[in-house]
Amino acid sequence: MNSQPPRRVDGQVERQQTDKGYVPVYTTAVIEQPWSEYSATDHDVWRQLYERQRALLQGRASQAFLLAQDQMGMTPDAIPRFSELNAVLQQATGWTLVGVEGLLPELTFFEHLANRRFPVTWWIRTPGQLDYLAEPDLFHDLFGHVPLLMNPVFADYMQAYGRGGVKAHGIGPEALVNLTRLYWYTVEFGLIREADGLRIYGSGIVSSKGESIYCLESDAPNRIGFDLTRIMRTRYRIDTYQKTYFVIDSFEQLMAATAPDFRPIYQQLATQDSYPAGAVLDSDQVFHRGSGEGWADGGDV
Ligand code: PHE
Ligand code: CO
Repeated sequence: MNSQPPRRVDGQVERQQTDKGYVPVYTTAVIEQPWSEYSATDHDVWRQLYERQRALLQGRASQAFLLAQDQMGMTPDAIPRFSELNAVLQQATGWTLVGVEGLLPELTFFEHLANRRFPVTWWIRTPGQLDYLAEPDLFHDLFGHVPLLMNPVFADYMQAYGRGGVKAHGIGPEALVNLTRLYWYTVEFGLIREADGLRIYGSGIVSSKGESIYCLESDAPNRIGFDLTRIMRTRYRIDTYQKTYFVIDSFEQLMAATAPDFRPIYQQLATQDSYPAGAVLDSDQVFHRGSGEGWADGGDV
């Protein structure tokens, strides 16, 4: 292990959107998790967030998510070691966690996913950032994204997305915009319809206290049935809760809907306008039409 913990590289020009704004991308190197350098405060932040979210997610997160998290053996006791999670994950679905400094350039990120490697930010937020952080940290990545990699269907979806990303990157920036919206409205902010009602599977939601409640219980946002091209045309929010959540019936539905070649879809979408984040269309399968209360006026991306 390095004696110096890896640090972010300052002065990077490239910035990427997150659910909280624009943040610089970091070095692309894969690094070993400097586990022994986590402080007691770091472990305590993990414990607090873990306990708070697990309690909140009973009855709100999808069964698949809660089950997968149990199966992984994550606990509140300490920040997990990537090496220990990898033993379980590799056995279950062949995925491997790799440590990184933070957000990666798009193509690097896609290539990891295409090879069933999931990049996890090694550092965790400070005690003053429990509710709000402008970029993904270890809690978002590990608690939010990693559990569903235990699910065989979702694990395959993530790899397919990575391959699709490499392909879209070669096609051009507009294709990438369309594909990124799909990621946003599924992997980060997706809802799933289960026997007892709507449940959360999106990582951006499960790692957020406020949005875990808001996405299901607030009257303000729309909740609309999954529709691939509709989603690929829909702008989104990066600095507020989402105005619209899209609901899948199953991960199998997601896999099947995204299996076709996207090239002709990208071509068609290039001639069409995008929809505002809060739009409701006649063709939508509406589970809930949002009241729009508290929505910010501009700022969809
Ligand atoms: N089928 C997509 C394509 O041809 C790839 C993809 C799969 C993208 C799953 C996203 C999710 O580009
Ligand atoms: Co994320």
